[in-house]
Amino acid sequence: NKSNILYSLFPTEMLESNNLLTFNGLANSSAYHTFLLDEERGRLFVGAKDHVLSFNLVDINLDMQLISWPPSPSRRDECKWAGKDVQRECSNFIKVLQPFNQTHLYVCGTGAFHPVCAYVEVGKRPEDNIFQLGSSSFENGRGKSPYDPKLLTASMLIDGELYAGTSADFMGRDFAIFRTLGKHHPIRTEQHDSRWLNDPRFISVHLIPESDNPEDDKIYLFFRENAIDGEQTSKATHARIGQLCKNDFGGHRSLVNKWTTFLKARLICSVPGLNGIDTHFDELQDVFLMSSKDPKNPIIYAVFTTSSNIFKGSAVCMYSMADIRRVFLGPYAHRDGPNYQWVPFLGRVPYPRPGTVRRPITQLIMIINILSTKSTLK
Ligand SMILES: *[C@@H]1O[C@H](CO)[C@@H](O)[C@H](O)[C@H]1NC(C)=O
Ligand SMILES: *[C@@H]1O[C@H](CO)[C@@H](O)[C@H](O)[C@H]1NC(C)=O
Repeated sequence: NKSNILYSLFPTEMLESNNLLTFNGLANSSAYHTFLLDEERGRLFVGAKDHVLSFNLVDINLDMQLISWPPSPSRRDECKWAGKDVQRECSNFIKVLQPFNQTHLYVCGTGAFHPVCAYVEVGKRPEDNIFQLGSSSFENGRGKSPYDPKLLTASMLIDGELYAGTSADFMGRDFAIFRTLGKHHPIRTEQHDSRWLNDPRFISVHLIPESDNPEDDKIYLFFRENAIDGEQTSKATHARIGQLCKNDFGGHRSLVNKWTTFLKARLICSVPGLNGIDTHFDELQDVFLMSSKDPKNPIIYAVFTTSSNIFKGSAVCMYSMADIRRVFLGPYAHRDGPNYQWVPFLGRVPYPRPGTVRRPITQLIMIINILSTKSTLK
């Protein structure tokens, strides 16, 4: 089942048009899932199974370049002995592909259930024509790429630091948002605490300035997760937006090396039904930020599908940063009560507000709020 690069970039209608250039894939690869557009060099970088590829933006078949990066035979054997499927799981599936500096990309893969990262040299200018795996040593990819190729990872490299929503263990249970690389100590969300993240599937990470001062920059993560935990048979999914402050370095006495500015809100995308019951689209699939003149206020387009097996549909919903910022100002919810459910937070909201940049570390109340839109396109 060989996936096709262009197929995942364009809808079927375009595949049927004539002026389409197709790359038919490599015989020994698949899973062309990680993309990085580099307009400066005129290249599209693609991460796949055991390979990183570089394509010409004008003609995909013109001068394709290829890095072969399979796991070592001994890694592959270890993966096999651990009971994994050699073909489908014991390869190096590339999950992270980010610009690192003027000459290098940062690339991470599952490494046959042993995540690994490396630097790929791409040269300063297009005419340098360089595309090779850096000769310096490989780095541990834990907290950057998942072990299991089936799991989604969203990541972004900002100022030499990698923000990644991923799973950080062999079993695929320890989901977290990490910041690694760079000169600071790594920082993450609390481990095995479903208030923070409840079996999430990460979609994307974005930096959006809050003011003209870069100290105030915020990181936004889009994901979907289980709405409730426990033994309920029908698990509902909620779409989420999470926020973090870029200058969050963790707590001093509590929340050491943990985020202290994490808040999350529900993204609602629904259409009113004839019978007065709204149809909800809860399975967030993708997010696109359309930049506007003001970098603080991109428009957010999100693509959703329904969770229902009976009614299958998709929708695009649009959100403004003004609404998103308002939602993170409260009212808040936290987990409480006999059934330990999400309920409105009725206590006094601590000062400074949760999630505020440059907030002295006090306590954590977990926040959920609802961001609703009914402006639905088909
Ligand atoms: C896959 O095939 C290409 C040639 O088509 C080769 O350059 C590359 O090394 C192969 N990769 C692996 C992992 O064997
Ligand atoms: C970019 O980073 C790589 C890997 O650390 C390093 O070898 C290279 O010298 C850096 N390039 C520049 C222009 O700083």
